[in-house]
Amino acid sequence: MINKNPKYIKNIFNNVSFKYDFLNNLFSLGLHIFWKRELVSSLKPKNGEEWADLCCGTGDITFLLNKLVTPNGKVYGVDISEQLLQIAQRKSNKLDNGDIYWQKKDIFELDANLRKFDGICMSYGLRNLKNVEDGILKVFLLLKDHGRAGFLDFNHAKINSFSSIFQKLYLRFIVVPISSLFNLRDEYSYIQKSIKDFPKGEKLIQIGKTIGFKKVKYKTIFLGQMGLLILEK
Ligand SMILES: C[S@@+](CC[C@H](N)C(=O)[O-])C[C@H]1O[C@@H](n2cnc3c(N)ncnc32)[C@H](O)[C@@H]1O
Repeated sequence: MINKNPKYIKNIFNNVSFKYDFLNNLFSLGLHIFWKRELVSSLKPKNGEEWADLCCGTGDITFLLNKLVTPNGKVYGVDISEQLLQIAQRKSNKLDNGDIYWQKKDIFELDANLRKFDGICMSYGLRNLKNVEDGILKVFLLLKDHGRAGFLDFNHAKINSFSSIFQKLYLRFIVVPISSLFNLRDEYSYIQKSIKDFPKGEKLIQIGKTIGFKKVKYKTIFLGQMGLLILEK
């Protein structure tokens, strides 16, 4: 089992913040933004709606949502790492997206009684939460009836499948050595360990249904490397 204590996770992301966007672009060859666009477009956010990007990091998804729901709607970007949020805020000011509501918070501390969101996105956040079921339940509670939610993360592929072998080799021989050049070996070695503990697609579907989502879909993208979980309350 790996350490998923929120303080530990927060430190990991504070430590990588100075190279976070750079390494994301490098390791995904710039493709992560297309996967994020696919997540957002599957959920069809509309002008006037209220959305949240939970575990928003440097805000890629928050900005995509903001374009679609404004001028009449609102977007919240929530993250536990103050350093990543600062980068998000700086980018926001540059892009003249000044009206995004940034919140430094553990998502489990958000007030679920509000049931206020038309939609929620989370990219590469679920795998880092202390408990995946609790994370999906929290999202369920924060949504209005008929609200939509989408999660993008690494796909936990079947053992010994092409996807699983490729993922392992890529992380071990590309991601970890390159991140070591920036003194971030431990932080990036964490990815492989966290995928091992992350539920497979079928299990995520089952969790979504058990929690009470009416529509639940899971699909893999990029040759089975990534997975999109799409839910409707
Ligand atoms: C891999 S990053 C993903 C960031 C961004 N969504 C992206 O796709 O680039 C995971 C993020 O989850 C945040 N995080 C982890 N646990 C959290 C929690 N309990 N509450 C809020 N944010 C959390 C981390 O600080 C980090 O920014």
